[in-house]
Amino acid sequence: MTIAIMAERRPGERRVALVPAAVRHYRKRGWELRVESGAGRAASFSDRDFEEAGVAVVGGLEALLDGAGAVLKVQPPTAGEVAALPPGCVLVCHLDPLGPPGTVEALAARGVTAFAVELVPRITRAQRMDVLSSQATVAGYKAVLNGACAMTRFLPMLTTAAGTVRPAKALILGAGVAGLQAIATARRLGAVVSAFDIRPAVKEQVESLGAKFLEATLDEGSEDEGGYAKALSEEQHQRELELIAAHIRDHDLVVTTAQIPGRAAPVLITDEMVSAMRPGSVIVDLAASESGGNCEATVAGRSVERHGVTVMGPANLPAEVPYHASRMYARNLAALVDHLFDEDGAIDHDDEITAAACVTRGGEITNERVRSNLASAAEQKAHG
Ligand code: NAI
Repeated sequence: MTIAIMAERRPGERRVALVPAAVRHYRKRGWELRVESGAGRAASFSDRDFEEAGVAVVGGLEALLDGAGAVLKVQPPTAGEVAALPPGCVLVCHLDPLGPPGTVEALAARGVTAFAVELVPRITRAQRMDVLSSQATVAGYKAVLNGACAMTRFLPMLTTAAGTVRPAKALILGAGVAGLQAIATARRLGAVVSAFDIRPAVKEQVESLGAKFLEATLDEGSEDEGGYAKALSEEQHQRELELIAAHIRDHDLVVTTAQIPGRAAPVLITDEMVSAMRPGSVIVDLAASESGGNCEATVAGRSVERHGVTVMGPANLPAEVPYHASRMYARNLAALVDHLFDEDGAIDHDDEITAAACVTRGGEITNERVRSNLASAAEQKAHG
């Protein structure tokens, strides 16, 4: 089988789906690799690096995709890219499967068997394929660096002849994969760090990184069977807001990462809370999206100033650390592709991981959640 790796065409995307170090994982299966010329440049991988690793470098989408059995990329394909995919090929990339309609339907109509990396189940067996975790790690790290650069203060304590500087205080809301990395990064930069999450199980992890866990009495179970957060009742949400309001005014850098799978991100920082913060402070909202974020003032993809506080709503932080984000992504993808194809190049669509990640096949949208999400989007559109 020939596997083709496309260059990314969406603005701001600097990652690539294959890096030279991951080539051996494909070669040991006997697969041929082709990469689009220039695909790795923004992530610091040259065409020459790929050639030296035994990958054919091909110019132009048509030549790249000609006869390819599988196609790998990072971002969901654009309409033009979908039209260039060979019918019947396998596509593996982000598909934003519960996002705006368009891409998934186009892939089904094109006869592509598409796998969404976001839908790989978060089970132990699939940990090596977990793109959400690897890219959240990058985002948590970069969020703290960007926030530190935008602050008007130092993060660490400094003792100098020009005076002593007290360390800044960082608050991390949501201590999942990104939040834990943000805690570790802020600690390494010398900040005094506190964190909060509605899943009490993370208290120990937060403390083991040297941060203080803010305690709240949320009596209902705030965690589902899979270890993910559940939406809070209105009363519990109010209690959480009170807790955050009591602490946030004393913090210089706030990183928020709170998400509930399949729902809009909860608002944790109101405009009133922002107004109580010290001018020059920074909020980095990793939950920023077109539908809002964790902070009321967040504008997705932009940095805005509110009451003297900078509120950042980064759209794609992993693309800002493209070398390592690509290395991690490429490793996840190699494990996933290895899992998808058996010795004869066939796909077992009954396998738990394969079935969960498959979105289109044989001209149909195979994923139940994606189908019902598209149906409700169509219904909403019909009702204006
Ligand atoms: P996420 O990106 O969906 O959410 C981030 C964090 O926000 C979570 O820790 C969540 O509890 C928290 N959160 C949600 N609502 C909140 C609120 N109102 N206030 C404060 N915090 C709130 O989660 P992520 O980082 O993708 O994963 C979360 C958990 O999933 C992990 O910590 C782990 O337990 C589990 N997981 C399991 C994996 C595996 O077994 N392969 C891999 C990765 C994650």
